[in-house]
Amino acid sequence: MPTIKDRPVGVVGAGRVGTALGLALVRAGYDLVGITARSDASRQRAADVLPDIPLVDLPTIAKSAGIILLSVTDDAIGPVATELAESAHLQPGQIVMHVSGACGLTVLAPATDVGAVPLAIHPAMTFSGLATDADNLAGLAYAITARPDDRPLAEELVRDLAGVPVWIADEDRTLYHAALVLGANNLITLLAAAMDALAAAGVPDPGFVLAPLVRTSLENALRHGDQALTGPVRRADTGTIDAHVRALRDRAPELLPAYLQFGLVTATRARRAALNEVDRLDEVVALLEARAAEANGDAGR
Ligand SMILES: NC(=O)c1ccc[n+]([C@@H]2O[C@H](COP(=O)([O-])OP(=O)(O)OC[C@H]3O[C@@H](n4cnc5c(N)ncnc54)[C@H](OP(=O)(O)O)[C@@H]3O)[C@@H](O)[C@H]2O)c1
Repeated sequence: MPTIKDRPVGVVGAGRVGTALGLALVRAGYDLVGITARSDASRQRAADVLPDIPLVDLPTIAKSAGIILLSVTDDAIGPVATELAESAHLQPGQIVMHVSGACGLTVLAPATDVGAVPLAIHPAMTFSGLATDADNLAGLAYAITARPDDRPLAEELVRDLAGVPVWIADEDRTLYHAALVLGANNLITLLAAAMDALAAAGVPDPGFVLAPLVRTSLENALRHGDQALTGPVRRADTGTIDAHVRALRDRAPELLPAYLQFGLVTATRARRAALNEVDRLDEVVALLEARAAEANGDAGR
């Protein structure tokens, strides 16, 4: 019986994801017939990660691949789908898939209109361009959006990558991705900022100090959500919070807006989750709102 693995794969875009997923597909036994690369950086990435895979153009991929994997930037998916559709090489039944978390199937409409099978399959992982990116893919959630009849194809592909399918409705995809950005991308900024503040406080190795605290907080939060919260907001220690605000205003003013806004979100969630007496958490919210208004007033002056 034919399987999805019998279809040759062509990758459009030798970026961080395209090269890592291309390598993962080769390791999973797929036949990678070619990859496109326009810039020197992409050509070099393809040569480094996929040295045996030919660099080809889009029409060649349209002619020879049964699975066309668009790993271009989100904004380029629509134009590339249009280019494919207009190439006159696309055949009904060819899979055209993208790996964006934020986009659904609509962006692939030009290809769908000429008979292609549209799939949106987002690996919930960060790809930073390291040689090890392809090693991190097993056991991941892959957020799939597919038409009902195409679900088995998408599921087979994800299972071949040792991934776990998670079904996301087309209309929920942007919210799904916003949630990942909130939790994962913002974490990088938050930790980088915290390390800067620790360095300003004279800590020689901020990562060493933060690592056990952050790792345990992360595990606790993933397991218990808001109930994992500790710290001055949960305790409603308004004196400590106010001292933090003064210290940040004096020593790291660029971090104050994030501290205040994050504190407000934390206090509001703590109140909703009944992590302390409502009156005491109301005091925390009032303090943070007052300090935020003062900071905005300072900024507006
Ligand atoms: N990075 C992540 O952590 C991550 C995680 C999951 C999903 N994704 C998704 O994966 C996709 C690719 O992201 P990325 O991080 O791999 O981006 P990237 O490293 O910037 O790579 C994008 C690639 O797309 C190519 N490209 C852009 N416009 C093109 C066009 N019109 N025609 C042909 N090629 C074009 C670029 O080629 P040239 O350099 O030759 O111009 C480049 O090789 C996006 O949809 C993103 O949302 C990213």
